[in-house]
Amino acid sequence: MISLERITKTYTSRKQSLTAVRDVSLQIERGEIFGLIGYSGAGKSTLLRCINLLERPTQGQVRINGQDMTALGNRELQQARKKIGMIFQHFHLLHSATVAENVAFPLRLAKVPKRIAMEKVHALLDLVGLRGYEKHYPAQLSGGQKQRVAIARALANDPDVLLCDEATSALDPDTTQSILDLLLDIHDRLNLTIVLVTHEMSVIQRVCDRVAVMDHGNIVEIGRVADVFLHPQHDVTRRLLQTENSTSSSPALADVAAPVFEVTFVGDTTYAPVLSEVARATDSTFSILEGTIGTLKDVPYGKLLVAWHGNRRAVTAAISELAARGCGVTEISQDRTTVEV
Ligand SMILES: Nc1ncnc2c1ncn2[C@@H]1O[C@H](COP(=O)(O)OP(=O)(O)OP(=O)(O)O)[C@@H](O)[C@H]1O
Ligand SMILES: [Mg+2]
Repeated sequence: MISLERITKTYTSRKQSLTAVRDVSLQIERGEIFGLIGYSGAGKSTLLRCINLLERPTQGQVRINGQDMTALGNRELQQARKKIGMIFQHFHLLHSATVAENVAFPLRLAKVPKRIAMEKVHALLDLVGLRGYEKHYPAQLSGGQKQRVAIARALANDPDVLLCDEATSALDPDTTQSILDLLLDIHDRLNLTIVLVTHEMSVIQRVCDRVAVMDHGNIVEIGRVADVFLHPQHDVTRRLLQTENSTSSSPALADVAAPVFEVTFVGDTTYAPVLSEVARATDSTFSILEGTIGTLKDVPYGKLLVAWHGNRRAVTAAISELAARGCGVTEISQDRTTVEV
């Protein structure tokens, strides 16, 4: 669906040049919700804007449905861009225009007859939950409502792809949740492919299927959200996860008189009494030192730090039984570095 091939983007001014994206290749499937995460300056927005050629890559190719976007002339590019909607952190609405006029704007550019455009505007406002707000002005709306208008506008030309650049970063947690729910809803109804930039792991966790972690213009880690979330490989990913789950008081493992393991599980295992069954079967016991249980999109997951008590054979048996039942198990040393099991 979206294929980025060896994309490099260098910004050049008279004094200096800066490479914001470095030789990035990436495939995004039709219907996927794909996340790009990273710290400020990592190159997320630049890469996202290369998809619709708001930024022209210095090198590399962008293909959408097989069409090489980088090879298109201005007219064809304008046409191709209609199939790619975009929303932003600060909404970018026209302040002197009403809600209806904002949503109708892309239809006016596309010379859609007024009556048809108005029908479309009403349907879109219905879809985003803003029926009756046609005559309001942006200044009369909350942040969440403004983003809903921006989403309606982005959908006006029936795009296949929706690009979201920090679309919830200016919103409070409840409003963020409602906008993410709306994105999931329109994704399902309209069969959209969504590429979403954020610096918040919780946003990725709620809506994305796959995620790429960016650092200094590179993709340093990419995979299914559950894998990246439960088994982060890169330092940047771990840091992004830590900020999110900053437990104020992690227990000191030096005081624990038993080997400590990180046990992860995804899917139905989350609800099964796996730990206690394994403990009983191997004549051992365990204590939970810290943990998170939640959902990744709609899949339940858990990540626990457990001390496993018993003689060495019992503990070894318990650990292999946990692995056999589909849990991820990693031994954690006293200084919290990983030990090979
Ligand atoms: N138009 C531009 N001209 C020159 N440099 C730019 C331009 N846009 C971005 N940059 C630089 O490119 C790098 C990547 O910027 P980008 O906006 O893509 O990062 P980001 O990951 O989206 O960061 P943030 O989370 O702060 O939005 C930064 O160093 C930035 O200063
Ligand atoms: Mg950005």
